[in-house]
Amino acid sequence: MSKIKNEIAARGYIFLSGFRPDENTAEVANTLGIPLAPWDDRLIQTLIPRAEATPNTYSGIYGLGQFPFHTDLAHWRVPPRYLVLRCVIGYSDVPTLLVDGQALIRAVSLEVMARAIFKPRRPRDGVLQLLRLCEPIDDDGWLLRWDEVFLNPASKIGDVANLKVREWLTECEPLSISLANPNDTLLIDNWRILHARSPIPDGRGDRAIERVYLRGLN
Ligand SMILES: [Fe+2]
Repeated sequence: MSKIKNEIAARGYIFLSGFRPDENTAEVANTLGIPLAPWDDRLIQTLIPRAEATPNTYSGIYGLGQFPFHTDLAHWRVPPRYLVLRCVIGYSDVPTLLVDGQALIRAVSLEVMARAIFKPRRPRDGVLQLLRLCEPIDDDGWLLRWDEVFLNPASKIGDVANLKVREWLTECEPLSISLANPNDTLLIDNWRILHARSPIPDGRGDRAIERVYLRGLN
């Protein structure tokens, strides 16, 4: 774990090729950290391309096209810290794209990001919580959130940040990491790295990736 933690601290993600093939994804998640079930009973979500889905989901909006860069559950007061993606059926031509939020913060400026107030598109538990794009973490840098679908600017600086972030994301050069083979595993710091799914070409509709959130690393 110390090598994994060092990589995560340095780069915000680590790709583990064919990681622990004898373990299932729940066991892998427990090896890596402390899993967190985002919805009542589902610790593991299986991500499968869908041409159509309910309108309030990425698949419902973007279908088989590229998803926009985002951090997961950005509308939560405290989004899950880490995200594990593990390949069940993968293809080298359907990479996961990553960009480093630290570069985004440098480009837009920490001052703007930390003052930019956004609100979720919909209330959660009856409350419309105002959220900053960047929040300080105790002795540990910044929590970055971004989701252009589920968060909307709610202040003047929010409007400024919204334009700047979107512009930067159209110009940045993402890393491209393919979960191509079974058990290929990508661990991402969800408070730092933005991710996106690339478009699904014909014949890749059976791609299947398992996802688990972690509240911390072991
Ligand atoms: Fe995501």
